[in-house]
Amino acid sequence: MKVELIDISVIFEKNTDVEKVALSNINLSFTTDERILLVGNTGSGKTTLIYLLDLLIKPSSGKIFYDGTNPFEKAYNFRKEFGVAFQIPERQFFNETVEQEITYAAKNFGVSYTKEDLKKLLISVGLNEEILYKSPFKLSGGEQRKIAIASILLHNPKFLIFDEPTAGLDLKGYLSIRKILESFRNQNKGYIIATHEPELFMDLCERVITLEDGKMVSDEVIKK
Ligand SMILES: Nc1ncnc2c1ncn2[C@@H]1O[C@H](COP(=O)(O)OP(=O)(O)OP(=O)(O)O)[C@@H](O)[C@H]1O
Ligand SMILES: [Mg+2]
Repeated sequence: MKVELIDISVIFEKNTDVEKVALSNINLSFTTDERILLVGNTGSGKTTLIYLLDLLIKPSSGKIFYDGTNPFEKAYNFRKEFGVAFQIPERQFFNETVEQEITYAAKNFGVSYTKEDLKKLLISVGLNEEILYKSPFKLSGGEQRKIAIASILLHNPKFLIFDEPTAGLDLKGYLSIRKILESFRNQNKGYIIATHEPELFMDLCERVITLEDGKMVSDEVIKK
């Protein structure tokens, strides 16, 4: 799928004293088989860009095309292709148990799975079955991160969007995220990783986009 952002700006609290231009005249296009690192200081607009890509917010100006069409008209269809793990996992949870949380997207998108798929998924993020029956809100930060990531994989997305995926994770957790990304790469599937720690994922990406104060200040291909 081809994603095109043309002259996109996102302005929060427009025409108030606290107006904030979070993204300013962004021109960006990529295909969902690309592996992209999104870097930039705190407040540079990374999470805002991710919300926009997941069609959760609309641009204040500019145009977005997914495969040449207006994605907001078919947001469900496009979201199905994405697996988005947000910066603050708790904000994406709304189910009573981890099992409901992890299986929600697959059910919502009508993708079937077996108990065995669920087991494998938990192992891939370094968790065991016991956690399925717990409340996602009563877990440690690292466990929540792992659940947030597990919950976007069962519906077999074609493109991952990870916002600060290593926040709160130990080395084992980091290594399991790398494995997930490597398996996407091996299937020629893409991802965007927003991170403050580019060195942790640089080798798994081919393109680095840098935001600074809402502007895209560089877009580089990494030579291997
Ligand atoms: N809903 C909102 N209302 C008002 N301002 C907002 C809102 N969301 C984000 N902002 C502001 O927009 C700017 C960009 O925020 P964003 O969360 O996209 O940055 P970020 O690059 O993800 O930062 P971090 O690295 O800290 O996660 C910040 O100045 C932030 O305060
Ligand atoms: Mg952020």
